[in-house]
Amino acid sequence: MTASYDVIVIGSGAAGLTAALALAETRRVLVLAKGSLTGGSTAWAQGGIAAVLDAGDTFEDHIRDTMIAGAGLNRLETVEFVIENAPASIARLIDLGVPFNMDRDTLHLTREGGHSHRRIVHVDDATGWAVQEALLRAAEANPNVTMLPGRACIDLITGRNAAKYSGSGRVWGVYALDEATGKVEAHVARATVLATGGAGRVYQFSTAPRGATGDGIAMAWRAGCRVSNMEMMQFHPTCLYNLETKNFLITEAVRGEGGHLINPSTGERYMAKYDPERMELAPRDIVARANDDQIKRFGLDYVHLDISHQPAEFVKAHFPNIDEKLTSLGIDMTKEPIPVVPAQHYTCGGVLIGLDARTDLPGLWAAGECTESGLHGANRLASNSLLECFVFGEAAASDILAAWDEMDDPPAIREWDESRVTDSDEEVVIKQNWTEIRRMMWNYVGIVRTTKRLERAAHRIDLLAQEIEDYYGSFRVTTDLIELRNLHQCADLIVKSALKRHESRGLHYILDYPETDPVARDTVLIP
Ligand code: FAD
Ligand code: SIN
Repeated sequence: MTASYDVIVIGSGAAGLTAALALAETRRVLVLAKGSLTGGSTAWAQGGIAAVLDAGDTFEDHIRDTMIAGAGLNRLETVEFVIENAPASIARLIDLGVPFNMDRDTLHLTREGGHSHRRIVHVDDATGWAVQEALLRAAEANPNVTMLPGRACIDLITGRNAAKYSGSGRVWGVYALDEATGKVEAHVARATVLATGGAGRVYQFSTAPRGATGDGIAMAWRAGCRVSNMEMMQFHPTCLYNLETKNFLITEAVRGEGGHLINPSTGERYMAKYDPERMELAPRDIVARANDDQIKRFGLDYVHLDISHQPAEFVKAHFPNIDEKLTSLGIDMTKEPIPVVPAQHYTCGGVLIGLDARTDLPGLWAAGECTESGLHGANRLASNSLLECFVFGEAAASDILAAWDEMDDPPAIREWDESRVTDSDEEVVIKQNWTEIRRMMWNYVGIVRTTKRLERAAHRIDLLAQEIEDYYGSFRVTTDLIELRNLHQCADLIVKSALKRHESRGLHYILDYPETDPVARDTVLIP
């Protein structure tokens, strides 16, 4: 089947649906999503969305906090663009019906690490779910938006098989696997927006959902887009340590509302040693490294996050969902500390885009966690990510609409060729390689790095390349195979980028180069 719409949006999270709704004012939009429409990170976001909304706060302060967290690698024009557009984004979400918490007649603002001011709007401790629901409601009600879940996109359709970022590979849509029928369809349009989220699942321990396998980053790279700063992988300091529930986040707002980090063996509130001024509210890279250091130095399984000194009603009112989850696991956060460990959380690098959300390829725009827009630099400031999705989702839509008349209609596109593949009889290969990549990335390309470990990782990735490509070339695609190929591609991009950076900066902390260079430079990989 070849379906034709004006614009294809790949991804139904905050970035994709924001773009789709803005485009749908005049264009027919097709939204494709792997698995369910709520399968991305957006639905899982807890803490909230950062925006300057309080009279005592300023854009300058938010910009400064973002640049400090980002260790100077951020692009100032992007930081200004996003932060100055934040209040308008929040206003649009309120119009869509997102029920943000109120403090009498003003929005309640919570606090998170690295923010010099209370500036996080939120819906209890489940902001993402409320945002996802509101965006989906609006998209479902819009006759110009068609949403197809259960479509795992495989590769972008390019005018030529672009090998360089020269702009020669005009994008005309995407080949996608219909997960229900097993058939591959070509979806064709004048413009395509990538909004596929991050690559967190490349690590063994991650707060991200199962589908965060970097598909958009890998597809864009194969089509000919540059990617940048892929070594900047953010680890969240406080993921619940529990043998049954492996990736449940304990929001940074718990520390924002007074939670302490304690060494369970010594009882010490150890952040005083690592960042005496900001303590538990230091930027995430510092707190995650401190937790990692305590765990390794004392041979611990976890550290403690303790908010039990706050009144029980306060804790329950601020964190109802976390409280409910912990209670179901036998932990009473109002009375006892929560066992936590660091885990991969956010992909700061990605497909390089400009302020108009354009990628290197004509016909292809990108927004959200799959991109490197210049906002986050070497470390994302808490709650700046959903904000980036809203601002760049809008930016992509307005640029596409402005460029509409200059764009040609798509040419005839060849159907997916399955003549040389058969059904796989060795699914175990996928499972084995997937597990191997994730464990290797955790052990060799984690919070603290060395050149030797990165080189070992590069060697393993090279060895796996042939096996995965042979498998991909021989068997009918499945979602697992598509994801494995992309995970491997992203692992390769992360390790290559990490090996190129000969300094420690933000999230890239490497023992062989402990100093930070005087000048901040992006790591840009060219296909
Ligand atoms: P996502 O929401 O991840 O959506 C990706 C979409 O792409 C999905 O629909 C998915 O199905 C689709 N997709 C992926 N691959 C394919 C494919 N091959 N084919 C078709 N479709 C595909 N940020 C904040 O600012 N504040 C927070 O409080 C916050 N809390 C967080 C808590 C957790 C536990 C996590 C994991 C992240 C949190 N973040 C937070 C980060 C934030 O949630 C994400 O960065 C953001 O939601 C990303 O949105 P997105 O639209 O770019 O991608
Ligand atoms: C959190 O709630 O701690 C996550 C916030 C974020 O990732 O921005």
